[in-house]
Amino acid sequence: MCGIVGYVGGRQAYPILIKGLTRLEYRGYDSAGVALVGEDGALSVYKTKGKVKDLERICSAQDVSGSIGIAHTRWATHGEPSDVNSHPHYSENHNLALIHNGIIENYQALKTELCRHGYHFQSQTDTEVVIQLIQFMMDTRKVSWEEAVPLALNHVVGAYALVIIDKEEPDKIIAARKGSPLLIGVGENEYFVASDASPIIEYTNKVVYLGEEQIAYIERGKELRVTDLRSVEQTAEVQKLELSLSEIEKGGFPHFMLKEIFEQPRTLSASMKGRLHPEIGTVTLSGVIDNRERLLKAERFVICACGTSWHAGLIGKYMIEELTRKPVEVEYSSEFRYRKPVLHPSDVVIAISQSGETADTLAAVNLAREAGAFLFGICNVVGSSIARATDSGCYTHIGPEIGVASTKAFTAQVTTLFLFALSMAEQLGTVSDEHRAQLVSELQLIPDKIARILEHDKQIADLAKVFTYAHNCLYLGRGYNYPVALEGALKLKEISYIHAEGYPAAEMKHGPIALIDEEMPVIVIAPRRGNYDKILSNIQEVKARKGRIISVVTEGDSDVKALSDWSFEIPDTEECFEPILSIIPLQLLAYHIAIAKGRDVDQPRNLAKSVTVE
Ligand code: G6P
Repeated sequence: MCGIVGYVGGRQAYPILIKGLTRLEYRGYDSAGVALVGEDGALSVYKTKGKVKDLERICSAQDVSGSIGIAHTRWATHGEPSDVNSHPHYSENHNLALIHNGIIENYQALKTELCRHGYHFQSQTDTEVVIQLIQFMMDTRKVSWEEAVPLALNHVVGAYALVIIDKEEPDKIIAARKGSPLLIGVGENEYFVASDASPIIEYTNKVVYLGEEQIAYIERGKELRVTDLRSVEQTAEVQKLELSLSEIEKGGFPHFMLKEIFEQPRTLSASMKGRLHPEIGTVTLSGVIDNRERLLKAERFVICACGTSWHAGLIGKYMIEELTRKPVEVEYSSEFRYRKPVLHPSDVVIAISQSGETADTLAAVNLAREAGAFLFGICNVVGSSIARATDSGCYTHIGPEIGVASTKAFTAQVTTLFLFALSMAEQLGTVSDEHRAQLVSELQLIPDKIARILEHDKQIADLAKVFTYAHNCLYLGRGYNYPVALEGALKLKEISYIHAEGYPAAEMKHGPIALIDEEMPVIVIAPRRGNYDKILSNIQEVKARKGRIISVVTEGDSDVKALSDWSFEIPDTEECFEPILSIIPLQLLAYHIAIAKGRDVDQPRNLAKSVTVE
């Protein structure tokens, strides 16, 4: 949520900052801004409501020279998207400028106090209070800005990644983080600061991940210095980035979302690499093997996640319960953290998060730790907060997911949950060797089966045009495909703004059936395995009320097809792998409906990729 980037070195900062903002725009895109210290020592801030291209338009008429600067792309929390609420924000004397990602929870109390001391606020944001507080510390304690930053941050409650420049010291950037990610790129006599690696990768692959409650003092031509909030020196460990430029570019696709849908045969293979052994019919997951004793003792699994990751968690529940016969609960992290959940030290809490930064899931992990539960993380972003906060875990290894609507992360999470379930089942002895070998051998075929579904992209795009009129859609599925109905509906509403609901097909009779008429598209996920006859009856019920049926069926199906107005075929597979295939046509359908409606697919309104605020 909010993208931040900074540069100090020997090059012109502005082009680096703008390119960085464009790469970070998936994190938020309601306003953008940049602050630069020019060769003449002047600190200039340009900012606007709108996207990075709107900022560029404004800057094209300005002098944007200078080799130090910071820039921000915003997802509003406090204060509507407007020019004045855009970052960077100035201090009272206009010497300092700051950008921020996160939420300052006690901003109102701090603001009241600062106003009482004669400080003036321009915006309605929580952010501005931090820069004013830093100046307040400089003014009242007669200290430098370096000393003022930790003093101020010790009064701040909330989450932040923030970057500050001072026109009086145009060789230096100060950056700090608590609860929001920040990394520093280390080049030859130059430094970069950013929310993620995408603005940095083309300049250097050496990075320092700033730790929780750490402050970095970044100075041109000098060693990087890191302290904690009490100003105690910390070690800055330089790591090598495992990311290539092509992973963050569209690679010939019109949108990141489409690129990521088409990447799935490859990304699923990456998630399984080194973990699947069809020749001996088994899987190895080091996160499970290394913690075998603790995991086998688990009396219960509790899965915590948000959004698409929560849908993957629901499928994980079916898999883990089926294979290990241990109970699994699936929780929205945001609900779990604020009620009084019953947790035991014998529980294993599985946190699923693509970004590894979702604030509610991180808080759920922290709550579970206090209760003594064992923490297992399934994340994509290596070194992310949730990955670091858990006792063990495994990465999905799918490379960066940039499209705001999650696609390749979902199929990888489901696959990884399966690997976890099967690995546990093998250790527990709850799966026979034959069944295990059969599942393993089928899983290795899944990437090719996805590739076969993707060949029908054109057919799905043609059908999508028919549905641009729809105001509501209903998605129905049973068993393993019920969470797919939820995920299919989520994809559609996120990017096309058509209201859609996912429902267990049999539950339709208890309410949603009242909505069905000849206008209502009903998308039924009805592959051959599991509850096929039951869902056939549910389709009859829709048909009897003249609903327009689009079905996802197994190749060769005739019964469901005969009742449907349109059908998409998927290859046959084991029941537990059906979601990985059945979601693919629904991802494409949502994409093409959104395109047909002229929506901004990669940057849908009001959403952000990484929700680092609660
Ligand atoms: C946001 C994103 C979703 C994502 C959810 C959870 O809402 O737009 O695509 O599923 O956050 O994110 P996580 O990174 O924890 O999986």
